[in-house]
Amino acid sequence: MIGIIGGTGIYEIVEMGKDVETKIIETPYGESPEISIFKLHGKDIAFMPRHAKGHANPPHMINYRANIYAMKKIGVERIIATNAVGSLDLSVKPGDFLIPHDFIDFTKTREFTFYDTKTVHIDITEPYCHDLRNYLIESGEVVPNGVYVCTEGPRFETAAEIAMFKQLGGNVVGMTGIPEAILARELEICYASICMVSNYAASISPTKLTIDEVFEVVEGQKENLVKLISEAITK
Ligand code: HPA
Repeated sequence: MIGIIGGTGIYEIVEMGKDVETKIIETPYGESPEISIFKLHGKDIAFMPRHAKGHANPPHMINYRANIYAMKKIGVERIIATNAVGSLDLSVKPGDFLIPHDFIDFTKTREFTFYDTKTVHIDITEPYCHDLRNYLIESGEVVPNGVYVCTEGPRFETAAEIAMFKQLGGNVVGMTGIPEAILARELEICYASICMVSNYAASISPTKLTIDEVFEVVEGQKENLVKLISEAITK
């Protein structure tokens, strides 16, 4: 089964599916959001809205462990995640899609592992799934590489933080990619992300950042995002 964890703006993919059924999964970490299970291009798909119904949970309050555990429990072997991001490079523009190959973790307060009672050190040298990244890269016009910086949010960044992230090699900045990618690796689920650039990051952008700007770009690119995922699923 292929899992899709949708951030802001891709709930529409469910409407393309056949025989949609919904499930809430119990996990040791609490309940999952409502997952829609359906068939698309003959494949079994499980769509999970990351923020739960009505975008209820902000990035730092998402129950990432319940989300990933629930996906594993229903038999998901591969996850395509979507994440809204700000761009640190003028050449990567609002509306672009970027498939990250690595990340830098600046989150602070999140439950980020399933291994609290056992000493396990997973290898995460290459945190994103090689095969799944290639399917996404072949499926549409995307920026094929980039380093994703994850912040704790929910605030946007200061100018000094963005300057630091750039110096460290970051290309895009978001609030929802971590610990999701780590938890997926811990449960041996192949995971890749489509980062949708919704804005230039603070201070890269000539104007003040607003959440309306983020939603506006996401809204405009929804159809293309669904197309990209739908194409990748056929591979
Ligand atoms: N910063 C952090 N997270 C984001 C941004 C940003 O500029 N845009 C969308 N998510």
